[in-house]
Amino acid sequence: MGAPSSADIARAARILRSGGLVAFPTETVYGLGADARNPAAVARIFAAKGRPQDHPVIVHVPDLGYLARWAREVPDTALALARAFWPGPLTLILKRASGVPDAVTGGQDTVGLRAPAHPVAQALLAAFVGEEGGHGFDSAGRRFDGVAAPSANKFGRISPTTAEHVRADLGGEVDMILDGGACEVGIESTIVDCSRGEPVLLRPGRITAADIARVAGVAPRAADREAPRAPGVLESHYAPRHPMRLIAAGDWERSLAAAARARAVLALRAQPPGDASLRWIVMPADPARYGHDLYASLHALDDCDCKVILVEAPPEGPGWEAVRDRLSRAAAKD
Ligand code: TXA
Ligand code: MG
Repeated sequence: MGAPSSADIARAARILRSGGLVAFPTETVYGLGADARNPAAVARIFAAKGRPQDHPVIVHVPDLGYLARWAREVPDTALALARAFWPGPLTLILKRASGVPDAVTGGQDTVGLRAPAHPVAQALLAAFVGEEGGHGFDSAGRRFDGVAAPSANKFGRISPTTAEHVRADLGGEVDMILDGGACEVGIESTIVDCSRGEPVLLRPGRITAADIARVAGVAPRAADREAPRAPGVLESHYAPRHPMRLIAAGDWERSLAAAARARAVLALRAQPPGDASLRWIVMPADPARYGHDLYASLHALDDCDCKVILVEAPPEGPGWEAVRDRLSRAAAKD
């Protein structure tokens, strides 16, 4: 399928402006978008996903010029991070500006903001903020728009990295799906809370703690009890339908032999000769490429006729944090 045309983008922006839902590609995963200033539209996102209403959603904005419209304080660290990594796979949590609807903050005093880099997301945001009929203005009289978008999957399920994944999971419930091909990063954005002084890493992603430290001048703290509600609170996020077991490399041979019911395997090593009925996917040894392939591979294994998905745990080394985080959450359900 070809990239969306400018007419497709214009239609998508009009759908958003009139309160509809548009699924669109970002460099991380596909988002399920609605006008962030329209609580009824945002409520439709929650209904389509089957997601609890009190969860905050990320507001997607064209660029860092929008930071001060959605946030009442933009600490130097947040500005430095946005300058370094926007547009890109980084979400900043900041104290919300007045007028930011509870629908996107989950009633909290903070708002999550991200400027995505994907050209289709950028084109959609540009067309959306340029549409007539915007209703948000900040205290300086500037337009104050954005697209609220969680990942475009049913609540608790694997995030979509292709338009086909979105169609399979939510096809009947969105007004339009923009197809931008497979997402380059493949796992959700890094989330950094800058609303409480020192930066706190709420969700690891392609941009690592070391990347944040280099720009912020301090290593981000790990999330604690005071942290705003984030996906980490829900252990079994990003889960396939089938139970999934994460196996340490040292236990692999024994677990594989014992798991007679496992018909699906995600491993770094190749399949030994023998059982042709096993569905075996060999993952890349590079963490970025592993992340790119992760959800598409889990979707493929989940669609096959298996009882259990066995996953070989990736290494502990630097760069693997985000992949390990998503795998341990996906396995937590079992
Ligand atoms: O890569 C991504 O971040 C993708 C794409 C579409 O941008 N979006 C995404 O959205 O993963 P979602 O809703 O599936 O996960 C975002 C997480 C939520 O679980 C929520 O807890 C957290 O971000 N979040 C959003 N706003 C927040 C806030 N104000 N305070 C704390 N956490 C927030
Ligand atoms: Mg999600």
